[in-house]
Amino acid sequence: MHAAQGEPLEGLPEVELAADGRELPRRRRARLDARRLRPLQHEERDSGRRDRGRYELPLAVPSEKRHGRHGSLSPMRVLVTGGAGFIGSHFVRRLAAAGDEVVVLDKLTYAGNQANLDAVEHEFRRGDIADADVVAEAAAGCDAIVNFAAETHVDRSILGPADFILTDVLGTQVLLDHARHHGLRHLQVSTDEVYGDIEPNAPAATEESPLRASSPYSASKAGGDLQVLAYVRTYGVDALITRGANTYGPRQYPEKFLPLFITNALDGEHLPVYGDGRQRREWLHVEDHCAGIELALREGRAGEVYNVGGQERENMEVVRRILDLTRGSPDLVRHVADRPGHDRRYAVDSSKLRALGWSPKHSFDAGGLAGTVDWYRANREWWEPIKSGDYRAYYEQQYAARLGA
Ligand code: NAD
Ligand code: DAU
Repeated sequence: MHAAQGEPLEGLPEVELAADGRELPRRRRARLDARRLRPLQHEERDSGRRDRGRYELPLAVPSEKRHGRHGSLSPMRVLVTGGAGFIGSHFVRRLAAAGDEVVVLDKLTYAGNQANLDAVEHEFRRGDIADADVVAEAAAGCDAIVNFAAETHVDRSILGPADFILTDVLGTQVLLDHARHHGLRHLQVSTDEVYGDIEPNAPAATEESPLRASSPYSASKAGGDLQVLAYVRTYGVDALITRGANTYGPRQYPEKFLPLFITNALDGEHLPVYGDGRQRREWLHVEDHCAGIELALREGRAGEVYNVGGQERENMEVVRRILDLTRGSPDLVRHVADRPGHDRRYAVDSSKLRALGWSPKHSFDAGGLAGTVDWYRANREWWEPIKSGDYRAYYEQQYAARLGA
């Protein structure tokens, strides 16, 4: 018998315990049972080992997990770390809407905001991913971990790298240890920045391109990625990585380029362009990024990396579009001292994720950026308190000398 996804099964015992001794709620027991009873996927029947080209996965991971066919296992119970941040909160909303159970573990650093999860069904735990006990408690009963938790701003990493190592490398390793000992899938949300500068006319980076991180931030993310791949190879952990491009959309903390420039333009404040502004980034709408992460979570293969790209634009081109959309004066633009070690260009090839079925739905020029500007215009109550709080001290440190204020 094969139970429909998420449907309760008749005749389950009243109490069933998880591996950690915790009592499983009936809905979850039903789901696990459905997983046990579902017919094997074609490729799961093929063999216990799969040649992955560079190496084979050890047999410690059950075949269904090794092959990562989680698509048919929905709904899942997922631990989303960093789920109160920008991309994480969109992802939580997405999983909750799909009927998955979501537990959010978030330290609520300056970038975390529980209001980002208003009206979204989830369980919330405040805590640090680098604390193994906190992780064990939050992850109890979960099928997978999706790790968004990170220190994420390049400029802050230049001012002080230590927290980046603690969260982005050590925190990742603590999560991987939990996944290893409890048989969870781990999806690591990483970044195109790990490939470093891409020469102006060079082809976009593929998943096989070397890691050439430039900033303390990207070096810490690369360190997390290498831990993931090491845990797959050494311990057979069911883990994989997505590497996303510059992401934009509602609820992004206004220290990053787009929300900073949009909100400054709306307030008639200067737009501090680093250097000549000829740097190039790929812009990826947050919903498209989350769709790519979800697809990799459900369909991606252990040990694999999936790039999630966007549309490449020069920074000054973006600044001009922001000024048009906000009706800001071009006099607001200030070319200021460049970011040390500033990467000129990022570009990634997403054909591997496209082959799994992903394609972006948002165009940067036809609605993506305009919709984002509209959101910041209509939601001042979200960003004004941020910009008048601790943020001011950071802004002074980062920009006062640059802007000659
Ligand atoms: P964000 O800064 O908006 O949010 C990060 C979240 O992680 C916050 O809620 C914060 O409180 C939480 N956090 C930080 N340290 C923690 C810790 N030790 N334990 C638990 N929670 C902690 O970040 P974002 O822009 O949403 O990025 C999310 C992830 O996506 C990051 O891993 C980032 O590297 C990656 N990424 C971001 C982009 C982008 O353009 N923003 C692009 C590609 C990849
Ligand atoms: O590429 C993915 C990465 O994108 C993510 O991994 C990071 O978490 C995210 O912060 C982002 O990194 P970038 O350094 O590319 O993004 P940022 O928004 O900081 O800057 C985008 C570009 O705009 C970059 O060329 C620097 C420039 N910039 C940025 C700021 C904050 C300015 O010219 N002035 C600014 O004040």
